[in-house]
Amino acid sequence: MNYKDYIEIVKDFPNEGIVFKDITPLMADGDAYRAAVNDITAYAKEKHADVIVGPEARGFVVGCPVAYSLGLGFVPVRKEGKLPREVVKVNYGKEYGKDALTLHKDAIQPGQKVIITDDLLATGGTIKATIDLVEQLGGVVAGLAFMIELTQLKGREKLDNYDIFTLMQY
Ligand code: PRP
Ligand code: ADE
Repeated sequence: MNYKDYIEIVKDFPNEGIVFKDITPLMADGDAYRAAVNDITAYAKEKHADVIVGPEARGFVVGCPVAYSLGLGFVPVRKEGKLPREVVKVNYGKEYGKDALTLHKDAIQPGQKVIITDDLLATGGTIKATIDLVEQLGGVVAGLAFMIELTQLKGREKLDNYDIFTLMQY
C-alpha cells in the first residue's frame, strides 16, 4: 500500500508557511485506513503494549482502533480543560502554536508498558509532552507510532531514547 497516495498536502494551513499533511482521505478509504491501523497494531503487539495512549484529536484516530484490535485499553491525552477529574498537566509548543496537555492522574498504572500513537510527528513537541505525562505517572514508554514523520522538523532529535515507528516520511 502506498500510503502517500492518500495524503492531501495543503499549503499555508492553518498558518502561512505551514505545509499541512491532511490524513482525512486516508481515513475515508476503508482499505487504506485498515492497512495503516494493522501496521501500527503489529508494532504495538511486538512491543508488548499494555495500554495505548494518544493525544487529542488525531492521536485518537490512530490509537483507538489499535487498542480495540489488540483488546487493550485506550487512554486519551487531552487539551487543558477537557478532562473532568484530577489531572497532570504539561505546557508545550508544536509546529504552529502553544498549548497545554493533560492526563487523568489515575489513567496509567506504574510499570505499565505504553505505546503512544499520533497521526504525525513534526517538531515533536506534542509527543514529548505526552511522554512527560505518561512518565509522571510511572508509565514505561515502549514505543511511539505515527502515520507520518516530517523529517525536516527533526522531531526525532527530541526523542533520542525512544523507539519510533512511522508509515511514511516527508
Ligand atoms: C497536530 C498533530 C500532532 C501534532 C504534531 O495536532 O496531530 O499531534 O500537531 O506537531 P508537533 O510534532 O510539532 O508537536 P494538533 O495539536 O494540531 O491537534 P489536532 O489533532 O486536534 O488537530
Ligand atoms: N501538525 C503539526 N504540523 C503539521 C503539519 N505540517 N501537517 C499536519 N499536521 C501537523
